[in-house]
Amino acid sequence: MQKDKGELQVSKRQLPSIKYFFSLVDFSLPAWNRPRRAVERAVTVADLARIAKKKVPRVVFDYVQGSAGREIGYERSLASFKNVEVKARGFQDVSDLDTSLEIFGREVSLPIIFAPTGYTRFMYHVGEPAVAAVAERNNLIYGLSTMGTTSPEELAAAVPGARRWFQLYVMQNREDSLSVIKQAKENGFEALILTIDTPVTGLRNRDTKNGLTIPPRIRPSTILAIAMKPRWWLNLLTTKPLEFAAFRGWDKSLQELAVAIFDPAMAWKDLAWLQSVWDGPIIVKGVQNVNDAKKLSKMGVAGLVVSNHGGRQLDQGPVPLEILEDVVEAVDGKIDVYIDGGILSGQDVYAAIALGAKAVLVGRAYLYGVMADGQRGVEKTVSIMRKELLNTMALAGARNLTEIRELGAKLRKG
Ligand SMILES: Cc1cc2nc3c(=O)[nH]c(=O)nc-3n(C[C@H](O)[C@H](O)[C@H](O)COP(=O)(O)O)c2cc1C
Repeated sequence: MQKDKGELQVSKRQLPSIKYFFSLVDFSLPAWNRPRRAVERAVTVADLARIAKKKVPRVVFDYVQGSAGREIGYERSLASFKNVEVKARGFQDVSDLDTSLEIFGREVSLPIIFAPTGYTRFMYHVGEPAVAAVAERNNLIYGLSTMGTTSPEELAAAVPGARRWFQLYVMQNREDSLSVIKQAKENGFEALILTIDTPVTGLRNRDTKNGLTIPPRIRPSTILAIAMKPRWWLNLLTTKPLEFAAFRGWDKSLQELAVAIFDPAMAWKDLAWLQSVWDGPIIVKGVQNVNDAKKLSKMGVAGLVVSNHGGRQLDQGPVPLEILEDVVEAVDGKIDVYIDGGILSGQDVYAAIALGAKAVLVGRAYLYGVMADGQRGVEKTVSIMRKELLNTMALAGARNLTEIRELGAKLRKG
């Protein structure tokens, strides 16, 4: 029978199907631990940051998230990634994508390196090994900070399979630096990251306002803080005391050490000195200027990181992503160029590679994970960023990192 034009379309009904109903039911047991369940369900690194904020005392979260001065530099770094427009093409057969690259002759599986960050046990009681274990499992590189709360020896023992770089400050007393370098050498650290944007510490206003001390001082107000985050405090109080572990046994308070670690007199000759005492690769972190990059390339370092220290040092300095292309052009392939600051997603990683970086360093992205749920949280950060990177590659039509670079991107005016 022919239907009248304009007659409503209907769906044919049938008896309710119990089998179909049960095929739709999710029988997996809910995790007993609500934050853990939230981590499992997190879709973005920003989700992990929200979970982290609920898990740790404010002073800890602010220490991680905060930057220097009026925090304009970090905002600009974040904005610079939002201003990227990636180029895209069709008909590329993106069924098989490759995110791997070689660094110092060995393969890593993603162009993401764990940036050195101090005090990790302040954020999560297991500390640095929880992050390095994720590096090991995912074939990535972990950077241990001079200000680490796990010593080079302890880290090497806990995660022997993780590729390790050691971040160094040229200290006021060069003998002190030598003692730390020796620990790195003896414990299988492959490269040194020399941080040069810290002649003095940046003005971390959030930390000053929060009265941050390492270790945290117990004041009357702390009792309330303990009541709000009992698990974090229990972990802190039932594990070994917080310390700068590379300086264990030194007769100095944490505050005295923090002062001795930065040397405002550091100058170019100190890089030459470091090259004379370390025969492995040196990567200079905190480059903010094309001329410095050229000079570093001439001096024969292995690589540099265009970085504003995540906005935690000079506020309102050059935005790393905005000077990246000029730096890459200036060193002309002679040394590796990395970038960090404000990279919180796989799209950001893609953008950095498209604008010429060899790989990126991430700090807060994994610290949000570690605060949210230790090693599981960091694992989640990596899986989120990997998924986002792969998705961007497929949609843009770039099958590997070389193709991302060839295809490129442009920075729109923000
Ligand atoms: C909590 C925290 C501690 C840091 N500690 C160090 C450090 O000890 N040495 C260092 O060279 N950089 C340190 N950094 C800077 C990072 O290595 C990196 O440059 C920065 O985090 C990159 O920005 P992102 O956090 O937006 O990824 C720290 C960063 C954060 C967030």
